[in-house]
Amino acid sequence: MPAGTATAISCPNIAFIKYWGNRDNARRIPANGSISMNLAGLYSHTQVAFGLTLEKDRLFLDGEAVTGAALRRASALLDRVRALAGVHERALVRSYNNFPTGTGIASSASGFAALTLAASRAAGLDLAEAELSRLARTASGSACRSIPGGFVEWRAGYDHASSYAFSIAPPEHWELTDCIAVISQSHKPTTSQEGHLLADTSPLQAARVSSAESRLRICRNAILARDFEALAQVTELDSNLMHAVMLTGSPGLMYWLPATILVMRSVQGWRRGGLPACFTVDAGPNVHVICPTSEAQHVIDRLNQLDGVIQVLSAAPGEQARLVTNNLD
Ligand code: PMV
Repeated sequence: MPAGTATAISCPNIAFIKYWGNRDNARRIPANGSISMNLAGLYSHTQVAFGLTLEKDRLFLDGEAVTGAALRRASALLDRVRALAGVHERALVRSYNNFPTGTGIASSASGFAALTLAASRAAGLDLAEAELSRLARTASGSACRSIPGGFVEWRAGYDHASSYAFSIAPPEHWELTDCIAVISQSHKPTTSQEGHLLADTSPLQAARVSSAESRLRICRNAILARDFEALAQVTELDSNLMHAVMLTGSPGLMYWLPATILVMRSVQGWRRGGLPACFTVDAGPNVHVICPTSEAQHVIDRLNQLDGVIQVLSAAPGEQARLVTNNLD
């Protein structure tokens, strides 16, 4: 099969019900299922070219050559694609994010989703969405949720075949906005990849995992019924449960900064005062404030007034990963 070039774009996603810890670390089979929303307007744009006379894969991220562990992670995904396609050439990968890296927006999800789609197509494969999602999962768990569009559920499953993500509602299903309060632009002290390995050291992880199914059901139903108050409560609870696990592992991980707590407390106060908004925090200090789009400007204005908030980005529900024709040349 002839190998070639392909380019794909993919959005990051924000999880309402979080993935934290794996049942199988090698294949990234998660301890629990998760539910997320893709973030429109934020993109990884990735071109893969096979068939060049390269001795090893080369990866450029925002124009800078990537080496070491990050390159090995991308090469491992390219190896899986090559094995599926029967392609042997090394690849030249060029990837750009239209959002600054280090803003705490997970570029690994959008980056690996775009890489999976571009690489598989460049290798001559035409994979179904579920297969793309499984492949993306092997590089970064949350990347499997950036393959389908809109509101997405990743069923934990128990092996490679059963662990993949699918859309539960398209982007236009619910006009929500994620207002991202950027609090720090420095890199995380502990990556999520390292953090997942520590999840089982917390005595709270078993309780979090065993109760996840009920939160998944509440969250799924809240999305399908567009019930903001139910979504708000389960999203904050799930974020707090994940951070409780992070804080109580060995070593404990504290991702929050003082301004993180100020934003979380403010959002709860605003909600008590009648403004529909809720928070969720990933493996970093920034706070994602989810609200109906009709309230987004209001929320952004309030966030901008809080001490320690550097900037506020906003995103509506985003599309699935897709191929594009502009090949970055
Ligand atoms: O996919 P990873 O390894 O970057 O892990 C993502 C972990 C969280 O962002 C904290 C939670 C989630 O479900 O996205």
